[in-house]
Amino acid sequence: MRALVVYESVYGNTRAVAEAIAEGLDGADTVAVCDATNRSLDVELLVVGGPTHMHGLSTARSRQLAAAAAQEDPDVTVEQSAMREPGLRAWLHDLPSRDGGCAAAFDTRLDKSPWLTGVAAHGIARRLRGRGYELLGSDSFLVQDSEGPLEQGELDRACHWGDALAHVVSAKSSSGVQS
Ligand SMILES: Cc1cc2nc3c(=O)[nH]c(=O)nc-3n(C[C@H](O)[C@H](O)[C@H](O)COP(=O)(O)O)c2cc1C
Repeated sequence: MRALVVYESVYGNTRAVAEAIAEGLDGADTVAVCDATNRSLDVELLVVGGPTHMHGLSTARSRQLAAAAAQEDPDVTVEQSAMREPGLRAWLHDLPSRDGGCAAAFDTRLDKSPWLTGVAAHGIARRLRGRGYELLGSDSFLVQDSEGPLEQGELDRACHWGDALAHVVSAKSSSGVQS
């Protein structure tokens, strides 16, 4: 199955989740959103994810704040792609419409009630639907602290989520062949 996982990540946790989802999707490609502009989106499944910042999708300002916070902790590194444009918000704004294309949304966020944290995946899903995509799934993967690490078991869960999405896409395409 042709699938592409597009992610944004400042500290690397969302990238790690993206890679685990891609593994579950049987080796799909992953690409940082700043490098996704020239990628073909002619895929059977487009998976899009980013960190939850200020209750929603990141902004240029929230990414700057995240990078500045990292400078105070020598143990935290910032992804090389983190400050490059377009960020996820701008990329989704310019995403071409694809009626009936299959997509899924994910985020990373703090391990607290979603009422407190906000859920970036909701905003990603809404934007993908607005571009005509059919949403096959939306999920959050949890970090222990702002810079990470991910909660135990989250990478396995991400891999299983990718596998489950692959099954949904393949069931849809076989039912399409029969009808
Ligand atoms: C500026 C900023 C704002 C944040 N706001 C939220 C928030 O509203 N809700 C939340 O759950 N986590 C918040 N976080 C924590 C991020 O979700 C966390 O840093 C992210 O999941 C880590 O992903 P990354 O390693 O891919 O950057 C925030 C982090 C930063 C730096």
